[in-house]
Amino acid sequence: MIISEDNKNQFENLGYIKISNFIDDKNYKSLCSQLNAEINKKFDDNKRDVMQMGGSLIGNVNIRLGNKGQLIWDYLKKNNIEDVIYSLTGIEKDKFESFAGGNLLFPYPKSYNQIFHTDGKKEPRKIILSLCLNEVNNNNGPTELYEKSHKDEIPYWKFVFKYFFKKKYQLQLSVGDIFIREAFIWHRGTRNKSKDTRILVNFIISENKNKDLNYDTSHEISFFDNMFSSDLRGKVKEFIDVKLRPVYFFYKFFRSLF
Ligand SMILES: [Fe+2]
Repeated sequence: MIISEDNKNQFENLGYIKISNFIDDKNYKSLCSQLNAEINKKFDDNKRDVMQMGGSLIGNVNIRLGNKGQLIWDYLKKNNIEDVIYSLTGIEKDKFESFAGGNLLFPYPKSYNQIFHTDGKKEPRKIILSLCLNEVNNNNGPTELYEKSHKDEIPYWKFVFKYFFKKKYQLQLSVGDIFIREAFIWHRGTRNKSKDTRILVNFIISENKNKDLNYDTSHEISFFDNMFSSDLRGKVKEFIDVKLRPVYFFYKFFRSLF
């Protein structure tokens, strides 16, 4: 895959790019379906623990892929992903720090729309490469994002005025597609209306090791908090977010004013 000037301009201007059919390989497809089954089994076997985690009320928890992430990364590398990322972002491959993770949306009716947010701050810069293990369509919780919203660091209230009524991009993916975005773009996970979990694999790429990336030394697939912490304070916030969304919205809105 050669990155054209148009591709570069799109990434810079919109803050994201989707490359369809980036990996066209039967073995990769079977790896994805194996991994999908494996993560689902882990999820079922550890449901009690997962249900205590931050994000479990909204139905969206993070995944550590452990060494399984390497298998996927190897396929990406075979297709020169490092050159692609360098061309798009300017991050050189010997400076890559990459964390292999993902997130899992609970099946219907246990997942809800997230509130719009950015993943971290503008600095240190992070890039997120996402791919799916099972198709992501408009029924099973596609990520929604606002194009061009990665440029300025703005508080939530400003985001509301600037973007709320703008058109959202909805990310649909097939196995083999990849999606690269600035972590610092306004987006949200949406509700999974299907009966199956929706798993997105994310590689978080940064120039230097980020303390907040939760680097993992374990080789096992595991789950961890998403958006909210699992302590009482986090649980209360998440409860308000899920059950009393307008209250949570105003809380975020007014907090961002000061
Ligand atoms: Fe996010």
